[in-house]
Amino acid sequence: MNIIVTGGAGFIGSNFVYYMLDRHPEDRILCIDCLTYAGNMSTLARAMENPRFTFYKTNICDRAGIYEIFEKEHPDMVVNFAAESHVDRSIETPEIFLQTNILGTQVLMDACRKYGIERYHQVSTDEVYGDLPLDRPDLFFTEKTPIHTSSPYSASKASADLLVQAYHRTYGLPVSISRCSNNYGPYHFPEKLIPLMIANALNDKPLPVYGTGENVRDWLYVEDHCKAIDLIIHKGRVGEVYNIGGHNEMKNIDIVKLICAKLGKSEELITFVGDRKGHDLRYAIDPTKIHDELGWLPETRFADGIDKTIEWYLSHKSWWETIISGEYRNYYERMYANR
Ligand code: NAD
Ligand code: TYD
Repeated sequence: MNIIVTGGAGFIGSNFVYYMLDRHPEDRILCIDCLTYAGNMSTLARAMENPRFTFYKTNICDRAGIYEIFEKEHPDMVVNFAAESHVDRSIETPEIFLQTNILGTQVLMDACRKYGIERYHQVSTDEVYGDLPLDRPDLFFTEKTPIHTSSPYSASKASADLLVQAYHRTYGLPVSISRCSNNYGPYHFPEKLIPLMIANALNDKPLPVYGTGENVRDWLYVEDHCKAIDLIIHKGRVGEVYNIGGHNEMKNIDIVKLICAKLGKSEELITFVGDRKGHDLRYAIDPTKIHDELGWLPETRFADGIDKTIEWYLSHKSWWETIISGEYRNYYERMYANR
């Protein structure tokens, strides 16, 4: 099979590229990524040596460029990871989120309609469901939970999901959608909570916790997400949505304290800063459907996953030090200086 993976130079996309190259020696992986600030060719260095991997530096909004790739490669499947993915950036500049996350999705699906496809898979997020209250631990997001978004990021992802479902209903495009909880693991861009706290702690810099730090996220090791998508594109039902999450809810403040402890750093580095606008309180996934239909269960416990992740950041310092010494410094200054 020829499988297009968009956003493969980013965090989850690159992990998926490596997962698929390892697990499916019969498949070719065709990565499309325009290398925004979040895309990194050094992440794909090992893949570039694999003859079953091809990289296209193309924007998913570039219709002619995307059609050209489809004409040349005749893909059997498309897995769309390409997105603007950071909530804080979406609050600062929403427009690029609408362009890439909605219109880019449309271009990819139009190409699928024009050239034919076995499966178009949309990588979505649990954030499309909005948030859950902190005092109702009995509540979880199921696939039937209404869409109810909080940030320009989640609104753009939800819009894309609706468009994907419309293309299925109207044009019969064979689609599937997965909505996963927060991922962590190797190649996670250091603007996100876990890698940011690891990098700052290693540099003895303040650890900026938004608000009270009581907000809850449901963390999943990235490889478990990749495995779930692999199952969905091969065995999942067309037209369906699958939630992905491993029942691993944690308060932000507890994650940050754990990172301090693991790295032998003082909790005095923790600095409470102004809260994120519209900050979602709690995310929690009910993964019953993907478990019952496809037999998916997470394999990596948080206790092991966080150790592996910290180990990775310790042994790949040049990867993240290069990132945080570049344009990222301006971002950090804008986002945190007067918070
Ligand atoms: P990321 O920001 O690390 O990577 C995004 C990648 O997409 C980058 O390589 C970037 O260069 C590329 N890209 C951005 N705009 C593009 C465009 N217009 N054309 C081509 N390439 C473009 O993101 P991530 O955390 O790996 O997330 C991947 C997907 O998974 C996203 O769709 C996100 O919504 C979804 N998701 C993420 C999480 C999470 O915890 N990170 C959880 C659930 C779902
Ligand atoms: P993030 O990694 O941005 O993921 P998301 O917003 O998509 O869940 O943030 C995870 C949580 O950590 C979220 O509640 C916001 C919080 N957070 C901080 O407290 N400080 C930070 O510097 C960052 C980046 C996030």
